[in-house]
Amino acid sequence: MCGIIGYLGDKNALEIMIEGLTKLEYRGYDSSGLTIVSNENLYTVKKEGRIEKLKAAVKDLNLKGHLGIGHTRWATHGEPSDINAHPHMNMKNTISVVHNGIIENYIELRRELEAEGIVFKSDTDTEVCAHIIDKYYEGDLYEAVRRAVKILKGAYALGICAKDEPGRLIAVKKENPLIMGIAKDGYYISSDILAILDKTKDIIYLKDGQIVDIKKDEYKITNFNGEIIEEKIETIDIKTSDATKEGFEHFMLKEIFEQPDVIKNTISRRLNSKGLIDFEDLKLTAETLKSINRIYIVACGTSYHSGLIGKVIFEKFTNILTTVEVSSEFSCNLPKLDENTLVIFISQSGETADSISALKAAREKHAKILSIVNVLGSTLARLSDYTAYTWAGPEISVASTKAYSSQLILLYLIAIDFSKKLNLIDEKAEMEILNNLKEIPKKLSSLLNDLEIYKTFAKIAVSKNSVFYLGRFLDYYTAKEAALKLKEISYVHAEALPAGELKHGPLALIERDTPVIVISTNEKLHEKMISTIKEVKARGAKTIAIVSGEYEAFESVSDYILKLPEIDSIFAPLVSVIPIQLLAYFGAIEIGSDVDKPRNLAKSVTVE
Ligand code: M6R
Repeated sequence: MCGIIGYLGDKNALEIMIEGLTKLEYRGYDSSGLTIVSNENLYTVKKEGRIEKLKAAVKDLNLKGHLGIGHTRWATHGEPSDINAHPHMNMKNTISVVHNGIIENYIELRRELEAEGIVFKSDTDTEVCAHIIDKYYEGDLYEAVRRAVKILKGAYALGICAKDEPGRLIAVKKENPLIMGIAKDGYYISSDILAILDKTKDIIYLKDGQIVDIKKDEYKITNFNGEIIEEKIETIDIKTSDATKEGFEHFMLKEIFEQPDVIKNTISRRLNSKGLIDFEDLKLTAETLKSINRIYIVACGTSYHSGLIGKVIFEKFTNILTTVEVSSEFSCNLPKLDENTLVIFISQSGETADSISALKAAREKHAKILSIVNVLGSTLARLSDYTAYTWAGPEISVASTKAYSSQLILLYLIAIDFSKKLNLIDEKAEMEILNNLKEIPKKLSSLLNDLEIYKTFAKIAVSKNSVFYLGRFLDYYTAKEAALKLKEISYVHAEALPAGELKHGPLALIERDTPVIVISTNEKLHEKMISTIKEVKARGAKTIAIVSGEYEAFESVSDYILKLPEIDSIFAPLVSVIPIQLLAYFGAIEIGSDVDKPRNLAKSVTVE
């Protein structure tokens, strides 16, 4: 939620702000703004709507300066508007602040400041930061910020500049992501590496409770007490092409097409010289694992759906009772946890507030914590006892696709690793499973050869206000992911049901031409799924069957059929997800929505 960028250096800060904000727009896109320090003055421009509006607003202003801060917003406090857009300023307009996060005690602080005569311009929580920093400002911006953060409660990443110190940029990190980039031309701060990937690969991952004081040719990092902290500069290994569409019309399509390589890569990173699965770097020993009597998998959205499949795989390969929970529910109804419980958090961003808060609750109960995350150095990764990265590369489209596939494949690999550590599987069986998994990329590629069929399916899916996805067992979980994907970017109400539940109520909703998409990848369940199709057809539904294995019997009952490559049903979720992602993608194209930035959403949800 929200992206911030800042720059102090030799180049034109305005260009860097606009380029950076365009790359951060996936984090929030209801308004944006920037401050440029030019001729010892602060020039601030803020616009409700997409970055394009901001670009248009600054186009003819001829703003030249070497220091700037910028922000792209996903509204939490105050509606999207020019006034509520960041940066926010003090009354004299001499201090400018961009913020990602939430100031939890802003109501109380606002009341106090108002009582002191401060007049607020916006409805945001952020504005209190500008006024408090102003209150403490005595010619040293760093000191003023250091005093201010002592009274700010909540989660925040801040970028701050002041008129009276035109060569100084201050940044603060507390529970929201912020990195610093060090380049020949100057210093950058950003919510995400992606925004500055073409400027530098030398990064400092700032830690919670740190303030960076950046001047022309030097910087210092301190804690909130002012003690200097030495932080390592890391040279990151992310390709610049990861942040571009590479000829695809949308990031989502590019990321769907990346999946065969992502799976290949995730597997190969986990094989040792003998070609066997290796998670030694996790340092989760056989001894520790043997003490675990219960696993919880906790996640949100698409990551939760991979967790549902993970539960089945974990129980199959480890015999450990495994439960899956949505993060926000897990925190408010915490089960009995202790040091013999392993809680696995799954998250693409590693910054999802609901998951972070669930992790903290689990930590208090002394549970062991493993996180499966994509973003390196993210909060969940840092708070966990063990972290396994999915290595899917940056995922930019709000709708998650390749992150999901990488989570799934990693869950299979971890489950088998656990199985080995628990002496439940021998090398021959492991090799057999690995051979199956290694075949997956080829199968995915075969589904990406011809996209016409998905366009036809998409037209049917978005032709009505309501769509049903049906499946049994693992296919039901894929159906849930399918429904989420369609809702999220095609704005069609989509509901996933375990096929057997249909007759217990939802069947009443089926009428002439209601689109019903049936996923059937387990031959043992084909007959039952065929009966389901007959039931909905009898009520007039238009049916699409996505089938693996013997499919002939589906031909006579379903209106449309998509045949998946042959695959053992336990691995089918890795394959059946491709058609449903493409169906949602072309559904979004059909209705003309903004595929990569669907309305009301943001890529990483850093508020509870
Ligand atoms: O970064 P996370 O995996 O923790 O995010 C969880 C959900 O917000 C995310 O999966 C969301 O549901 C996606 N937009 C779905 O495509």
